[in-house]
Amino acid sequence: MTATQQEHWDEVYRTKAADSVSWYQPTPEPSLRALDEMHLPVTAALIDVGGGASSLVDRLVERGWSDLAVLDIAAPALDVAKARLRGDATRIAWLVTDVTKWRPGRRYDVWHDRAVFHFLTEPEQRLAYRRALETGTAPGSAVIIATFATDGPERCSGLPVQRYDAAALAAEFGSAFSLEREWREEHMTPGGGRQSFQWCVFRRR
Ligand SMILES: C[S@@+](CC[C@H](N)C(=O)[O-])C[C@H]1O[C@@H](n2cnc3c(N)ncnc32)[C@H](O)[C@@H]1O
Repeated sequence: MTATQQEHWDEVYRTKAADSVSWYQPTPEPSLRALDEMHLPVTAALIDVGGGASSLVDRLVERGWSDLAVLDIAAPALDVAKARLRGDATRIAWLVTDVTKWRPGRRYDVWHDRAVFHFLTEPEQRLAYRRALETGTAPGSAVIIATFATDGPERCSGLPVQRYDAAALAAEFGSAFSLEREWREEHMTPGGGRQSFQWCVFRRR
């Protein structure tokens, strides 16, 4: 990602209400459902990569999760989430960085990415993401990832995206990750549009 892309995302979160962007979800239902099915202890370490202003961590704090991190290239996105969480914001690690330039200093039990990987349209960006993923996870870690599906939009937030089905995502992640579950979701945007998402749960071997 270039500084220009960071500026793009900063501008998005500075100028648009968090509940007006196309990716807004009142409740992150698919993510919570995927986590429920894993029956993890609330002490499990979870990172929401490109979490933006998502309320996933709010819902997990409410459920007692105690080891949460949110990473995003755009500081203003995290500021929205922190303001919303008020005192609970101090219970979360906030990381302002480009995931493709990040070297995780620890490993997470769950790596969650909704609508971030699909912005990496260059092979070297995806390779850099995978390096971060491999450093930030351990054998047994789960990866919950959602991208636009093959019949989803070609752009998001004015940027081109790479669309995937489960097989294509599995090929990107390589043999170190086994595909456990996949499903499609029709996301309803705040403007009333429909967007096809492909969700996958991988397990690190
Ligand atoms: C479509 S939004 C999705 C936000 C959130 N995951 C959700 O579901 O509400 C994409 C997010 O990825 C972030 N992002 C884009 N490229 C990134 C990168 N290279 N590293 C980290 N975050 C990035 C953006 O700032 C934005 O918050």
